[in-house]
Amino acid sequence: MTDHLTIVRHPLVQHKLSLMRDKDTPTVVFRQLLREISQLLAYEVTENLAMTTKTIQTPMCEMEAPVLDGRKMALVSILRAGNGLLDGILELVPSARVGFVGLYRDEKTLQPVQYYCKLPNELDERLVIAVDPMLATGNSSAAAIDLLKQAGAKDIRFLCLLAAPEGVARMKEAHPDVPIVTAALDDRLDEKGYIVPGLGDAGDRMFGTK
Ligand code: URA
Repeated sequence: MTDHLTIVRHPLVQHKLSLMRDKDTPTVVFRQLLREISQLLAYEVTENLAMTTKTIQTPMCEMEAPVLDGRKMALVSILRAGNGLLDGILELVPSARVGFVGLYRDEKTLQPVQYYCKLPNELDERLVIAVDPMLATGNSSAAAIDLLKQAGAKDIRFLCLLAAPEGVARMKEAHPDVPIVTAALDDRLDEKGYIVPGLGDAGDRMFGTK
């Protein structure tokens, strides 16, 4: 993965995303679409995983069959909305290890503060995929990647559903080595830091809170 930003323009991804953006799409449908789209995005973000071969016996003959190489990958959900992407990806990569990072924004300093962090071991030997549906200001995403690097992660990718130009720029400045895979690059952030046109609060929409 060489590009800093990959926008997945596949028609199925774009169609599902449009359904998710619609404010009248109910929670149950939103959640199902998120699960489906997470798998299509995961397909893209795992495109060039390291491979090796293994000798197997088919019913016809022996062959050198391609299989994944290296340690199990780590998925890291940035709480709470990241959890909406986890289940779908885990269906594709059931052996992945899973971590969680929780950050809130200090209202005085406006800086992200960590309130939870539980990560798989030996992160330095794993591909680490951080997931959060919305890359908005990029402050919490950049802080989450800082934590992953402090824990030893070296090969990190960031998967999101929607990105704002501000968030992409912030990530490029803080973590130029972390490729971003997303379904769309939207126009801008509003004054409250929401992505426009966006889809609203991803956590509220997937969990039915308001
Ligand atoms: N988080 C969200 O859930 N939505 C946005 O638009 C921005 C950040």
